[in-house]
Amino acid sequence: MSARPVGDPQSAAHHPVTVPRFLEAKKRGARLSVLTAYDFLWAALLDAAGVDAILVGDSLGMVVQGKATTLPVTLDEIIYHGEMVVRAVRRALVIVDMPFLSFQVGPSQAVENAGTIIKRTGAQAVKLEGGVHQAATIAALTAADIPVMAHVGLRPQSVLTLGGYRVQRNEERLLADARSAEQAGAFAIVLECIPRGIARTITAELSIPTIGIGAGPDCDGQVLVTQDMLGLTGNFRPKFVKPFADLSAQAIDAVRQYVAEVQGGSFPDDAHSHA
Ligand code: KIV
Repeated sequence: MSARPVGDPQSAAHHPVTVPRFLEAKKRGARLSVLTAYDFLWAALLDAAGVDAILVGDSLGMVVQGKATTLPVTLDEIIYHGEMVVRAVRRALVIVDMPFLSFQVGPSQAVENAGTIIKRTGAQAVKLEGGVHQAATIAALTAADIPVMAHVGLRPQSVLTLGGYRVQRNEERLLADARSAEQAGAFAIVLECIPRGIARTITAELSIPTIGIGAGPDCDGQVLVTQDMLGLTGNFRPKFVKPFADLSAQAIDAVRQYVAEVQGGSFPDDAHSHA
């Protein structure tokens, strides 16, 4: 384990995080911290706090757009949000999710769409859901010099075939997916909602970093949806989400106070008025 985490903003090596640096972190045993952002303000906050990578996740469909699944998110929407995030970031690696049906048609569709994401947003990498079934696509993207983060285990874009958002326990399948993604050229892999023992085995076997979400402590890094870990998404609290803050309660209290002061006439006072 290195003395300082990769994302320590006080570190002497306070350089932008690149794809090769991400890979080196695994060799050094440095744990990687990843969070989601969908806009300029949140991306700037996460970057200032020293997160190693920012994922413009298609979770934006649920978190920002209020939809029931990630399936409706479009290429144009993820690019719109990706542009805002990249504009704010000075140091973290920015990874943009490939939305449902932007890569599943085949490798050439994926290269075209991932290329468009990279060109229009300025992000350094894309993420796509899949292992064995997406190996040819991951290989095509890698051959086109587009760094790919793979995503196996619970794949929210496969919610219809998986039958819901459940822990994935088929060890053979999970190992095959992870190995395929690495062999095809992925530079990192998200392991979502799998038993910690399987995540430990995959992490030990792969030479690329594993980034867990609901996959236990033995992954090379962790990712969470920012709004979940800051307590902004109401009662949505799966087992793996630790509430690091309760910003919803603080925001509601502040807005209630504002409403009361406006209604009572105590805001604005002299201190907040021009003479
Ligand atoms: O879309 C997303 O935010 C994700 C992460 C939760 C891994 O895929």
